Amino acid sequence: MILGISGSPRKMATEHILGEALKMLEERGFQTRLFTVRAKNISPCRHCDYCLKNAECVVRDDMYQLYPLLREAQGYVIATPVYNGGLSAQTKIVIDRTRATLAADPKALRRKPGMAIAVGGDRMGGQELALQQIHTFYILNGMIPVSGGFFGANLGATFWSRDTLEDAKKDEEGRRSLRKTVRRFAETLAWLEGSDAGDEIKER
Ligand SMILES: Cc1cc2nc3c(=O)[nH]c(=O)nc-3n(C[C@H](O)[C@H](O)[C@H](O)COP(=O)(O)O)c2cc1C
Repeated sequence: MILGISGSPRKMATEHILGEALKMLEERGFQTRLFTVRAKNISPCRHCDYCLKNAECVVRDDMYQLYPLLREAQGYVIATPVYNGGLSAQTKIVIDRTRATLAADPKALRRKPGMAIAVGGDRMGGQELALQQIHTFYILNGMIPVSGGFFGANLGATFWSRDTLEDAKKDEEGRRSLRKTVRRFAETLAWLEGSDAGDEIKER
């Protein structure tokens, strides 16, 4: 199962584009789940270190809906809106709260691939930094960060929403960056499963 996580508090561009990415993966035969922070109660990590001693988080909030999915997933698609030139606080909170998953099993995410999507209101509003922040999380956990490659998706999928869902849908360059990134992500998943089904990659 591929787990998509939307770090937007709204049912707008980020969640919609994540849904499209998961649909593309389903068309390639992967099972998916979408988890959104929208309307959820997820508090920041308190750094109480309870998880290090007890292998679970002391804060019993909606993060408990995500913990089993995090363990089960074979790959991750994290989608964030761009807030103040980087990822959203909501996305960062989810990332920080994975500390409990990793306290229980430090290898929980190891060798699993991850891709990222960033949606900004401005054309160059910090999408690439947001993607890098997500990739840093992947790297820290021994995961395989996947981008869409040069000529349009250098670090992953980047969208220009002009603050509306309609304009995000019209962003053709964004859609191309998403297709390229999903293609490479699917190729990596297939390679990890020991199949070469993803090898026929058209780079442009
Ligand atoms: C607190 C806040 C800060 C934002 N900062 C940026 C920014 O630095 N760069 C940018 O391109 N867009 C910024 N935006 C706009 C959002 O990234 C944009 O509207 C995006 O589409 C929101 O995602 P959503 O459609 O899923 O809600 C900001 C929005 C909010 C609420």
